[in-house]
Amino acid sequence: MSESEWKPIRIVERISTLPTLPTTVSSILREMANPESSAIGLAKLISSDQSLAGSILRVVNSAYYNFPRKIGSLTDAVVLLGYKGIRNIVLSVTAFRFFSNSSDYLDRKKLWNHTLACAIIADLLNRRLKLNESNCFEAALLHDIGKVVFDYLDPEVLRGAIKEARRKELPLITVEPAHFGITHSEVGTLLANHWNLPDNIVQAIQFHHQPENTVPEYLHITSLVSLSNAVAYSVEMGDSVFESIPELSPIVFETLKIKDTFIEDSREEISQSVETGLEAFSSIN
Ligand SMILES: [Fe+2]
Ligand SMILES: [Fe+2]
Repeated sequence: MSESEWKPIRIVERISTLPTLPTTVSSILREMANPESSAIGLAKLISSDQSLAGSILRVVNSAYYNFPRKIGSLTDAVVLLGYKGIRNIVLSVTAFRFFSNSSDYLDRKKLWNHTLACAIIADLLNRRLKLNESNCFEAALLHDIGKVVFDYLDPEVLRGAIKEARRKELPLITVEPAHFGITHSEVGTLLANHWNLPDNIVQAIQFHHQPENTVPEYLHITSLVSLSNAVAYSVEMGDSVFESIPELSPIVFETLKIKDTFIEDSREEISQSVETGLEAFSSIN
């Protein structure tokens, strides 16, 4: 496939052939949204996917959650973590499966660690800045999923883009349109829509590099994901393409009401939480 042959319209066609979220995951997410659901019902659903059940128990027993006793049953895990906690793990496990295929050109393991770090940071900052945003863990976890989609569509073309970005010392996103006719934010948005993810996640994926373009309703979550991405680079959890901390739009500081020294000031504390979080979630595989 020559580079010029990639046009957004062809990409849209190819995305529609990608698998949707596994049935267990969609039914778990549906069950959680059901006001009449119970911890027991949810635990039952989860146990229909043995590897998912195992991952949840491993994560819930990790140092990240720091429960004083060993959690042996899924029902206990659901009660202790709450629906939100379980949903984070379910989506992490699913996204991990998506990231785990090996590729010669894109360091998916590094990208996975980057996105997981972003998710842990977004969750932490959401609490610390008292933003009360829902789905921020998931949005941050999936913000760069478009890079995996590029790798799936055409690894050779992606390699050309990565090489060019490295040579010119530019962020990957600035060279992507010349190679794919579209950016990783845009292609990630197509996948998020194909997966029927909620609008706030879709918007955060679409505008994580330009939060100023998001609709006011989703400005907080998009700014939070944008900030978490930059913070991840500052604690050396960037992706494999370009290592310097991305510049943030002033709207991020304004929206989240933080000082422009925020990243520098919170680096040490965040670095600690990221370390325990990564250790916990690495037991997924
Ligand atoms: Fe990105
Ligand atoms: Fe990123």
